[in-house]
Amino acid sequence: MAVSKALMLIPRRTQLFAAYGRTLIVALAIAIAMLVAPRSYADSAAPETSAVGVHGMVVSESDDAAHAGVEILKHGGNAVDAALATELAVGVTNPAACGIGGGGFMLIYMAKAHHFYALDYRETAPLMARPDMYMRNGKPDEDLARDGILGVGVPGEIAGIDAALRRFGTMKFQQIAAPAEKLAADGYVASPHLAKEIEMLAPKLKLDPGLAQVFLKPDGSAHNAGDTIVAKNLAATLKGLGDNPVASFYHGEVAAALVEFMKAHGGLVSAADLANYRPDWRDPIHHRYEDYDVYAMPPPSSGGVVLEMLGALDSGHLAGLGVNSPPYLARLIEVMRQGFIDREQYADPAFVGVQIQKLLTDDNIQQLRERALHPKKSPPPAAAAHDHGTTNLLVADKDGNVVALTTTINTVFGAKMSVPALGLILNDEMDDFAVAPGVPNAYHLEGERANEVRGGKRPLSSMTPIIVTKNGAPVMTTGGSGGPTIISGVLQVTLNILAFHLDAGSAVAEPRIHEQAAPDVVIVEQAMPAATRSALEQMGYKLRVVPELGAVGAITIAPANFRGAADARKGGGAVGY
Ligand code: GLY
Repeated sequence: MAVSKALMLIPRRTQLFAAYGRTLIVALAIAIAMLVAPRSYADSAAPETSAVGVHGMVVSESDDAAHAGVEILKHGGNAVDAALATELAVGVTNPAACGIGGGGFMLIYMAKAHHFYALDYRETAPLMARPDMYMRNGKPDEDLARDGILGVGVPGEIAGIDAALRRFGTMKFQQIAAPAEKLAADGYVASPHLAKEIEMLAPKLKLDPGLAQVFLKPDGSAHNAGDTIVAKNLAATLKGLGDNPVASFYHGEVAAALVEFMKAHGGLVSAADLANYRPDWRDPIHHRYEDYDVYAMPPPSSGGVVLEMLGALDSGHLAGLGVNSPPYLARLIEVMRQGFIDREQYADPAFVGVQIQKLLTDDNIQQLRERALHPKKSPPPAAAAHDHGTTNLLVADKDGNVVALTTTINTVFGAKMSVPALGLILNDEMDDFAVAPGVPNAYHLEGERANEVRGGKRPLSSMTPIIVTKNGAPVMTTGGSGGPTIISGVLQVTLNILAFHLDAGSAVAEPRIHEQAAPDVVIVEQAMPAATRSALEQMGYKLRVVPELGAVGAITIAPANFRGAADARKGGGAVGY
């Protein structure tokens, strides 16, 4: 059916909805799915990474997924419905980054209630997990946490989607899952970013029958950008979840298949782990920046670290320094370093008494500012922050609701293992724990006691979706992917908008830096002008130049004026309507 014809049918279907109930729910779901046609990177113009909308906006690291979300908005869904449809769709089209085997954080603003909600549906360590589970012959073996069955945490994705949908959505699970099911069943066009990841991981994908079957060609070579990838088993799993996905995923058929796979491969995730999994509604955290109120996820997110850094840069007259000027970057570097030092106190609050309110007091932030002004430098061992799994998406709707959501299976293709019959890629979220105190993880972040492995605990995360209001109304939202570079990226994009008044597209496009205290080296994107880099070197900073850091998206929100930007670093789409 042509897209225009399908669109003409929608109002009639919507009117008939009340009369024909459930049959038409299915019809509507099918109509939505039909509008999400695979896009070709080879035949058509590249997806739009910046867009303007009058009624709403969806930004995602997948253009197909952003379109799926906007179709839900157009069909009367709210920002939560659209965000969840986008999330399920991006789990199909960016499968190296996220999916039903992972978990995430969702920050929601509901305009009518004028209230923020924070949902933590992060993966959790299996009950059998132990602090020394990655020690071998007296030494930590961090590969065990990253590649393979012992890296797998209990997935939270479906429980989180279900909890948000039931509390704030207006649609049924199968309605919001329809676009994802169609993309998986009929195929989607591999983006250049996904093709790069498949190519990079091809030797490991070859070792897993389920991953090889979907992501490699019959001759074993990697799919290229523009190839159509079909994930029939994933489509069937999504459909089989029906409208009560928790029943199947955590207690029913999916749970049984997952547990059987775990037993067969020596994994720790048990039937009890799945049955006991619960997403947590947490109190969002908040701090002021200039005239703005910035809301973020509490621990185990690193949202508080971004709030601390913003607080330390408040009243800093940054605009006078100039965006990405050497004096501004020097100030950022020092504040980032101190923020990452404070990050060592963050962990799962159910296991560790994280003093988040104390960390966000004016006193603590003043101390951070003082430490940044009089830094004590540590020796700089070199390390790169490169792109990782994880994906961020943002939605703003016509009623003023906003969702900022980051979800992950951790590193690219997670544990590099899948449950073939389910089309489910297993996460390696256990690597976000301190594999052993003092031993760096995949992101070169050193582990401390607060973040050691414990059964039932959630690992510390860098994922930091945020929403900003002014005079009580949302004015922007942002979030990103790329391990700890999410924290520095979200900070810089927020400042580019609030302090330097850039539009969303320019704010996201500006080159970025990253400093995480250990190793104490400033990572700089090569797009940063050479003169700026050498000015930083002359100030005594040791730089490591990388092609690019993680991806950050943004939406700026004004009445009937939504400006969205996906990050060209990773591709994706901003779709307004
Ligand atoms: N797995 C990436 C993060 O949670 O920070």
